[in-house]
This record gives sequence, C-alpha cells and structure tokens, in this order.
Amino acid sequence: MASSEALLSIRAKRLSVDMDYISNYSVGSALQNPFDETKNPEGIINFGTAVSGLMDELWLTRFSQQSFFTPDSSHYRYYQCWGVDTFREALSKFMNIFFKPKKPIIFENLYVLNGALLSLDILGFLLADEGESFVFLTPGYNGYYQAGFQRWGIHMVPVPLQHNEESGEFELTVSSVEKVISDEESKGRRVRAFVFNNPENPLGKVFTVEIVKEIMNLCQRRKIHLIADEIYCMSVFDENTHFHSVLEIHNPTLLDTNLLHVIWGFSKDLCLTSFRTGVIHTENVSLQNALKSGSQFQAVPLPLMHILTNVISDADWFKNKFVPTNHSRLRATYAKCKEFFCKIGFTTTKSTAGFFFLVDLRPLFNPPSQEASKAFVKKLYAHKIYMTPSWEMGAEHGWFRFVFTAYSTHGLDIGLARLAAAIDEWKRDISA
Ligand SMILES: Cc1ncc(COP(=O)(O)O)c(C=O)c1O
Repeated sequence: MASSEALLSIRAKRLSVDMDYISNYSVGSALQNPFDETKNPEGIINFGTAVSGLMDELWLTRFSQQSFFTPDSSHYRYYQCWGVDTFREALSKFMNIFFKPKKPIIFENLYVLNGALLSLDILGFLLADEGESFVFLTPGYNGYYQAGFQRWGIHMVPVPLQHNEESGEFELTVSSVEKVISDEESKGRRVRAFVFNNPENPLGKVFTVEIVKEIMNLCQRRKIHLIADEIYCMSVFDENTHFHSVLEIHNPTLLDTNLLHVIWGFSKDLCLTSFRTGVIHTENVSLQNALKSGSQFQAVPLPLMHILTNVISDADWFKNKFVPTNHSRLRATYAKCKEFFCKIGFTTTKSTAGFFFLVDLRPLFNPPSQEASKAFVKKLYAHKIYMTPSWEMGAEHGWFRFVFTAYSTHGLDIGLARLAAAIDEWKRDISA
C-alpha cells in the first residue's frame, strides 16, 4: 500500500502535519478541550489564541434584546458573493467613522470574505506567484506564514524587530525592511508585498505616522504592494496612543493607489470571531475584478451579511457604548495581567492596543531553546494552560505571547492561579 502522504499533492505536503506537535504542543489541544466555567471547568485555559471574551455579556444582551435578522425569500438564493451592496454600504459608513480616511471610503472598493486571514490568503494568491516573496514583521502573526507559504508557496520572509534590552521596546527601522527586500532580490526572488500589521500582533504596538509614511514611501520606491492589516485599529486602549490608518495618511504621491490594500474584520475589534467576516479595501480595479471572479469560493452567507448590516448600522451604539466599554475593559484587564507577571518576577512588553503582550520567560531557561520551550509548554498543558510559544510568532526562544482578553474575571483568575502553579513547579524541577 502506498504511504498516505505520497498520495497527496505537493501543496498538501507543504502543510507538513506534525502530529506530535499538534497533539502535545500546539493550540489544537486547547481548542479541542476548551475551559468553560460551568460546562468544562477541567478544560484548558487558553491564553494563546487572540480572542476576546470581554464583551460577551454585552453582545449576549444586545442579541437577545433585538432581532437583527428578518428572513425573506432572497435569503434562500445565490447572491453577489463579494458582498451585497447593502452590506458594503453599511460597512463603508462604519469604516468612515472609525478609520477616519482622508478620502471617504466608497462601498465599491470593499470586498467581503470569510475573515481577515482569508483576505491575506486571497491576496497571496492574487498578488504573487509561487517562489516570490512577501515580507512581514516578527514577532508577528503566524497566520501570515500559513496563508502565504503553506497555501501558495510564497516565501514569507521575516523582518525581525530589534529588542532594545534597555527600554524593553521592540523597534522597527525601515532600513531593516529595505535590507530584507534587497537580500531577497539578490537571491533572485521578487518581493511582491510588505504585509504591515498595525496595531501589531503580538506586541500590541501602534506605529507612528512617520513610520507609516516611511513604509509607504519604501513600497513606492520598490514598487511593491502594501497590505495593511488593520484588524486591531479600534482596539487601541491606551488613552495617550493614537492610531492612524494608512487610509488617513495616504495620498497618491506617497504611494501609488494601485499598490495599497487594507484588511479589516469583525473578529477582533467587534469581538465576533466566529462570524468569520473580513473585508479588503482596494482601489486597484484589476484586483477588484479578480476578487469578484473568485468570490463564490469565499462568500460570507447572505443571512450573516444581513445580520451584520443591522449590527453596524447603529454607529452611535458603537461610538457611545461598545468602543468605550471595550477600551476600559481592555485597560483594566491588561493592567491586572501585567501586575500578575510583575509580582511573580517577569518582565512584559508594553501594549497600547490589541489583546496581548509578550512575557519574557528567558530566565526560566538555561539557555532558551525550542526544546526547552517545548518542555515548558508541556508543563503548561499539565496544568491545563496554553500560551503562544516563541516559534509560533517568529520570536527568540524564551518569549511567550500572553492573551489577556480571553476570559472575564473568574476564568482569568483560575488561569492565572494555574499559570503561577505551573511556573513554580517548573522552577522546582529545574533546580532539583
Ligand atoms: C494580525 C491578524 N490578522 C488577521 C487575523 C485573522 O483574523 P480573522 O479571524 O478575521 O481571520 C488575526 C487573528 O489572530 C490577526 O491577529
């Protein structure tokens, strides 16, 4: 009998499923046995997946008080798969409020599909050929690697942010991005896009207008696409930090409009991850036509678009209730979790946005390595905890990403107690 793997495509082999890793160390185990305070109190507490439960009760109340869906017979037919115009119009109004674009966003430039990660996946398919390159910042979002490399054979090339041991900041210099682009090109690999995540996952960092302008300028000079993933743009919780979208900064002399594409979605800023809805803003007409042409493969269900149209049409509720409540909960939970790590003696990075920060657990390893981190992940799992390890985000070994938003108070407290116990036991083991 032929080996099962030999029967698959080269593309499928690139997925390189490592069952030991999947079963023992990855987020998979956490998602298969999720903690629930009443239904599964012995389940895994997942501090590794970037989701937020902070707004659950607000959504539960809102969805139970108001009906957002009135079915009619159109809901049982095929439809405009790249997003029906009523939804795109509602989205353009919503985004005009929260992205503050220089030029109003028009619905014709919005393309709806099943999530922000799929948007990156589709842009990978449409903007690069196999063997070409995209560059992105690390520590960064692992999904980029999966979408670009695993699916389309695009080299996903990291630009490591430099950790300043004194300030504790991870710093970006645009010259380091340019160097990576030049290095790729000297290997004969054409760089097609810079994937720029701002605010950044996992650092919760918001880049300044100056940096964003420099990046646009770089993309213009090198004639590469700028894919701006702004999925955390409404989750800037620090009161002294201001986010500026590329759509607010952009003008066509800074960057050719045909090279600029923005990604956003409902998973993070609205805490509606399971709704699997994302959007691409692009003015590039050829890209728009290509997005239309493949849209039947990635269509958001019509009833869901109908629900979301009604949800986002009440902009006042978002401005006056949802966003301020979300920000104050993000601030409070962030402060609580930072304090927890400080008390048990570990340094964390400063976040101003998003759901996460990095924890410097290097002192627990001598020296930090993937093997040692894997053993530590195993220890965490023994205490029914998961956190994102370094290699899942292209960070140096010993760094872990901690997602502070996943649980409201009780789950969070249980999780922090389990984490403290796991770290204590690890320290005892290594000193024995
Ligand atoms: C930076 C970034 N982009 C995209 C995504 C994917 O979002 P979605 O759930 O809409 O696919 C994530 C999810 O963690 C993310 O952190």
